[in-house]
Amino acid sequence: MGDRKISIAIDGPAGAGKSTIAKIISKKLGILYLDTGAMYRAVALKAINENIDTLDKEKLSKLVENIDIEIVYANDEQKIFLDGKDVSSLIRTPEVSIGASNVATIPDVRIKMVELQRKIASENSVVMDGRDIGSYVLPDAEVKIFLNADVRERAKRRYLEEKAKNTKDITFEEVLKDIEYRDKNDSSRSFAPLTKALDAIEVDTTNMSVDEVVNTILGHVKNYG
Ligand code: DC
Repeated sequence: MGDRKISIAIDGPAGAGKSTIAKIISKKLGILYLDTGAMYRAVALKAINENIDTLDKEKLSKLVENIDIEIVYANDEQKIFLDGKDVSSLIRTPEVSIGASNVATIPDVRIKMVELQRKIASENSVVMDGRDIGSYVLPDAEVKIFLNADVRERAKRRYLEEKAKNTKDITFEEVLKDIEYRDKNDSSRSFAPLTKALDAIEVDTTNMSVDEVVNTILGHVKNYG
């Protein structure tokens, strides 16, 4: 990229391919990648560790008052630290996925996370993925993409990822149920829900290869530059 600062917002539901695509775009353009879902996951992990119900508004509002979430980049990888500890792997469990979707409905939690996200974007060129980046966090982002895919295809991708990790046995039906729960929860909350910004470009990845999606997005980035 040239000297001009650029923000690229990639939103969409779970399993649409956001993080895979955003990581490749960030490498190709030599700009930062910020996975905002990791932040909500870190909040959920803290709540779970402290036996707090992830839908408890009052306790969660208090919990984020003094939470210490730090994003660190090492070897081109985003690492997330919670209260000084690297929790990058611990936040990738089905329990934390559901918890993250729950804590993300609480306005005080979002306000705190968005503050950090906007600070990072004000200091760096960035490709940021999430649910509300184009519609709320960075309304002036130069490029806004809304990635979507058929729900069964998204569940299949997540299921194969879980299988590859080879941790706990999980069935396709369980993954599908979790994704449907999160789709509904993320889209129906009142504060900054999952939504396609009016000026976002929708890309349906159901039948597209990773390369095709990356090239489509890079085409839009070129139009901007
Ligand atoms: O992208 P992800 O699956 O890691 O996100 C986990 C949850 O966090 C997701 O179900 C909803 C929430 N989230 C959000 O509300 N806003 C964002 N910008 C990113 C994630």
